[in-house]
Amino acid sequence: MKPSAGQNYISLLAKAAGGAKLRVDQMAKLLLPPNAECERELFAAAYKLKRQICGDLVNLRGLIELSNICTRDCLYCGIRKSNSKVNRYTMGIDEVLEAAELAGKFGYGSIVIQSGERSDRSFTDFIETILREISRLSYAPGITLSCGEQSFETYCRWRDAGAKRYLLRIESSDPALFAAIHPAGTSYRARRMALHRLRRAGYQLGTGVMIGLPGQTVEQLAKDIKFFRDMDVDMIGMGPFLPQDDTPLGKQFPDTPGAPEERLKLSLRMIAVARLVLRDVNIASTTALQAIDPAQGREKGLLAGANVIMPNVGSTSHRRDYQLYNGKPALDENAGSVRQALIASLAAIGERPRLDGHGDPLHFFRRNGKLK
Ligand code: 5AD
Repeated sequence: MKPSAGQNYISLLAKAAGGAKLRVDQMAKLLLPPNAECERELFAAAYKLKRQICGDLVNLRGLIELSNICTRDCLYCGIRKSNSKVNRYTMGIDEVLEAAELAGKFGYGSIVIQSGERSDRSFTDFIETILREISRLSYAPGITLSCGEQSFETYCRWRDAGAKRYLLRIESSDPALFAAIHPAGTSYRARRMALHRLRRAGYQLGTGVMIGLPGQTVEQLAKDIKFFRDMDVDMIGMGPFLPQDDTPLGKQFPDTPGAPEERLKLSLRMIAVARLVLRDVNIASTTALQAIDPAQGREKGLLAGANVIMPNVGSTSHRRDYQLYNGKPALDENAGSVRQALIASLAAIGERPRLDGHGDPLHFFRRNGKLK
């Protein structure tokens, strides 16, 4: 008798879980389980691998949304340069240090500084100053930057000032889809080159994509995972596309009933397949998951194989001005209540926060020959 679609799926899943190197068509197949039972098995296999690699620990990163001033005009992003409705801000150094100290008090161990993209000298100098000041804090946090495309010299300067990780999403590894969601001046090739510069500068490197973009296929998403594997990245941050009302893409493709939930499910399956393929990398359960499912989104991400959460540690005063998409959660909740709720919800799924060290991705040490 011919094996059923479900049986085929489960045997492919077992291969993936055992560490076989998958082809793109096999990754695409895993992204589309034929029934609910197979989907549960996918999440279970990815979560089992997460537990083998990271135990029951989740790495928390205190997120600081430094500035919403941006020189780019990405068609999906709420803080794009042409969005005149945004009230633009840049945190002062004292405000940044206060947030970084709070992250230390909370035991987060690492912080992420994210910002709109600028490469003028006063901005790159400001980042350098911030990095030097934060590095001096008594808990010596691991620092991740997410400040867009910069020159090799700037990446090196920031690294020397204390940054050790960098997140720069490719957004889509498909050049045509990338072009469709960006304005003419934003080039796929330049983005790739920036990723290579970051690698050369010695960072722990993270990238990622948006999931459920208009016109995006499962085949393209499978190629995104192959792109992550080929780039040998250490960290992944990806989440569902969320239309933002004041953007060209948000206006052109407003949500229909049920669509966000589908994108959430697809995003969870991407996390699971990425875990199975990439094994020992850090994978974030992103805020965009929580935007679709405020009660359970991030927890579902962990149960699908993610191992990092980035709670906001900035004051609530800027939260509304940093809305990349509709439905950003916790707009009015201060960092303390966010933390309380997070720790309780981790406990509810049998996970706990790592309260020591920087929570570096094991992959970084493995690819540098420091781990077997
Ligand atoms: N929906 C989902 N993610 C978005 N981002 C920006 N705008 C949106 C949106 N509308 C993501 C991009 C970017 C990251 C900082 O936020 O992937 O790299």
